[in-house]
Amino acid sequence: MAMRATPRLRDSFSPPPRYGEETDVRDSGSIKESWYKCPIVYKRQIRTFKPTDTTMKSHSIAAYELPARVASYDADMDVMHPNRHKMVSIALETLPFDSTATITALDLGTGTGFFTHRFLEWFSQARVISVDGSNSMVDLARTRLGNLVERVDFRIGDFRQLQSLIPESSHGEVVFSSYALHHLNHGEKRDVINQALRFLKPGGWLINADIVRNESKVIEERVQQVRVDGIVRRGQTIDLRFRDVASVREFLDQLEATDGDQPLTLAEDLQVFREAGLIHSSVLWSEYREAVIGGQK
Ligand SMILES: C[S@@+](CC[C@H](N)C(=O)[O-])C[C@H]1O[C@@H](n2cnc3c(N)ncnc32)[C@H](O)[C@@H]1O
Repeated sequence: MAMRATPRLRDSFSPPPRYGEETDVRDSGSIKESWYKCPIVYKRQIRTFKPTDTTMKSHSIAAYELPARVASYDADMDVMHPNRHKMVSIALETLPFDSTATITALDLGTGTGFFTHRFLEWFSQARVISVDGSNSMVDLARTRLGNLVERVDFRIGDFRQLQSLIPESSHGEVVFSSYALHHLNHGEKRDVINQALRFLKPGGWLINADIVRNESKVIEERVQQVRVDGIVRRGQTIDLRFRDVASVREFLDQLEATDGDQPLTLAEDLQVFREAGLIHSSVLWSEYREAVIGGQK
């Protein structure tokens, strides 16, 4: 099968190493930079953060400031998480508001604006407060949104300190998030959802579309195989990182370590929602290791 031999990233980050050639591997203290053995430009910066130290920039925010990561983010998401389109549709269909209602939503971890974009198209008079810690991702969100950006209020910062990013007097009908809260541990997630619930008006809805981990190690192992096989099927002809099972596994392991992924099980996620104060919550959809969980305040 023909593999793509030229870098997928068109712009001027740096010339990529040739395939099979590893260059520029530096390790200075806590910062490590390296190139993958791959023609796709993928420069990594790995830093160790204490996950509970909220005075430091979150591990998962720093990962989303890396230029190559940001540039290939949406293309990678389509290979790695094709369900995200469906997940956002389920979230939108669940929200019981008229399409012309003048509602306000809070998006936790907006990234390049995938969910916010769909939300603003679905609810033509809605406004969104978009929170994300990565300026680079938010720049892409602005570009993606075009004129819709007029209905968005961007807040750059760590959503673990949500209350310092949005005024106490700010309230809305919806809180949503996609592929962002799995960067948090149980306690952090409960605290963030708890802060988000203070933003929600009574009767408002909170919906999270995200990754989950299986309770059974045996099932998790099989689900991971299904995951990797799917990425190879979708990605092998367009990107050498996805050329075979071994390269995909290596790519995912490094990605998850850099991002500080720590998905909970579905049962733990529901427990977190309830501990945070969302009494009426349920799994709205799930498949393999992805789920849409939501509820009403
Ligand atoms: C995987 S991306 C998801 C983006 C988008 N919601 C989507 O569905 O494509 C995760 C985003 O969450 C942001 N993020 C992660 N941890 C964060 C934190 N503690 N505070 C604010 N943003 C954070 C990252 O900067 C990144 O843009």
